[in-house]
Amino acid sequence: MVSRVIPVEPFDLVVFGGTGDLARRKILPALFRRFRAGQIGPDARIIGAARSELEDAEYRDFAAEAITEAGYDAGCDDDASEMLSRFLSMVAYVTLDARGDTGWDDLETLIGGPHPEATAERRVRAFYFSVGPGLFGDLAERLHDHGLSDAESRIVVEKPFGRDLASARELNLVLARHFDETQIYRIDHYLGKETVQNLMAVRFGNMLFEPLWNSQYVDHIQITVAEDVGVGGRGGYYDRSGAMRDMMQNHLMQLLCLIAMEPPAKFDPDAVRDEKLKVIRALDPVTPGDVVRGQYTGSDGRPGYREEVGDPESTTESFVALKARISNWRWAGTPFYMRTGKRLRERASEIAVVFKDTPHSIFGVEGGDHRNILTIKLQPNEGIELGVTIKEPGPGGMRLVDVPLDMTFAEALGPDSADFPDAYERLIMDVIRGNQTLFMRGDEVEAAWAWTDPVIEDWQTGGEPPLGYETGSAGPDDALMLMHRDGRRWRDIKA
Ligand code: BG6
Repeated sequence: MVSRVIPVEPFDLVVFGGTGDLARRKILPALFRRFRAGQIGPDARIIGAARSELEDAEYRDFAAEAITEAGYDAGCDDDASEMLSRFLSMVAYVTLDARGDTGWDDLETLIGGPHPEATAERRVRAFYFSVGPGLFGDLAERLHDHGLSDAESRIVVEKPFGRDLASARELNLVLARHFDETQIYRIDHYLGKETVQNLMAVRFGNMLFEPLWNSQYVDHIQITVAEDVGVGGRGGYYDRSGAMRDMMQNHLMQLLCLIAMEPPAKFDPDAVRDEKLKVIRALDPVTPGDVVRGQYTGSDGRPGYREEVGDPESTTESFVALKARISNWRWAGTPFYMRTGKRLRERASEIAVVFKDTPHSIFGVEGGDHRNILTIKLQPNEGIELGVTIKEPGPGGMRLVDVPLDMTFAEALGPDSADFPDAYERLIMDVIRGNQTLFMRGDEVEAAWAWTDPVIEDWQTGGEPPLGYETGSAGPDDALMLMHRDGRRWRDIKA
């Protein structure tokens, strides 16, 4: 039961950084899947742009390999290879220098130069900045100089959107010189995940939860994004970022916003983003005692973080756990515990809403302690589970037991649901459709940095190294203590 595909209008999509890792792993495979699903028609054009000198045919080979690597061509299936060659016929390449003049005239010619005023021929033009933020300004400037920044143009920018508030502000200013906020699509791929959107559907499409969604009924909320992989080949980038910048400031912060925000009046971009922004602005500063950072150590022949990044002195955190407090009427008194890290026990991400105890147990001691927990599982097995307390079957006393009301999407919605679009598929289609709801607005990004900056500054001035944690563990012991001392405990990290 996967929803009907509504084709998008013809478009031109230029991928700057077209030979890069993101284009290969995500963007090109995502476009192919949408083409194969019938959402992208044969009139679309996909243009890779990068510094390497390649012919169109060579870039098509690169695209074909990327799609095959992603497993989206389904090998020897005739239909798939026919689809692949039709898709590749829409792909072209321009050798281009973001900082120089090389290639810009070619690009202009390829996509037809500035749109003539008042014509029915205007196609959507999307420019995907799949490059480091240092090039955003140059690209925006050149698009403008070549008359390509008109009302039909959209730019897509990847994280990291800056490395602190000052640099994010600077980037926002640079882009705003030539593009209106309505044309800027800042990607946080977590917002494109199926279950993340389902979080909004569950909250605002049901009467059941919203009346209980506040500090009167919710004891606390846990957000865990655990990865079992290490930094791998991305050590250079990661070592300059760390878990706080790489994950907490964006992905976990977005999850926090969606779980905590007030119901927007409409499901439209600014209504949703206004509410998210209010959450970030209502966050209390994190006190130093409420944050724990860690770095994985090697074990069982697997390298530790420092070995992986090749710096025996590195003090970059590969794990962070913290307690956040939202000072508003809905959430005052309900803490939000958030943690994320690499080389943890398993790849498992979830949000758990832990409800309070019943005010009085009529079952006495025999009944035991039970709590309702609503778990939104983001990955790997997407679904929603509600833990409810029932009587343990059988004769004898009134013993209670917790059982899950489990709605794993793959089971509840049928086998096709395993074929949900990848986050990038959905987000790129939203760019073409001009729907910014699942993209971050400039003020949101700045507010998120304003909250994380002091924590990072504190680490830098404090000089304390991160705490070691074993590969395959749940992070440093202090992270467990963060909850224990409040009389609470983290849920197990398990898929
Ligand atoms: C990226 C981070 O944004 O998200 C990576 O830069 C991280 O470090 C990745 O591994 C996790 O994404 P996902 O979709 O695999 O949970």
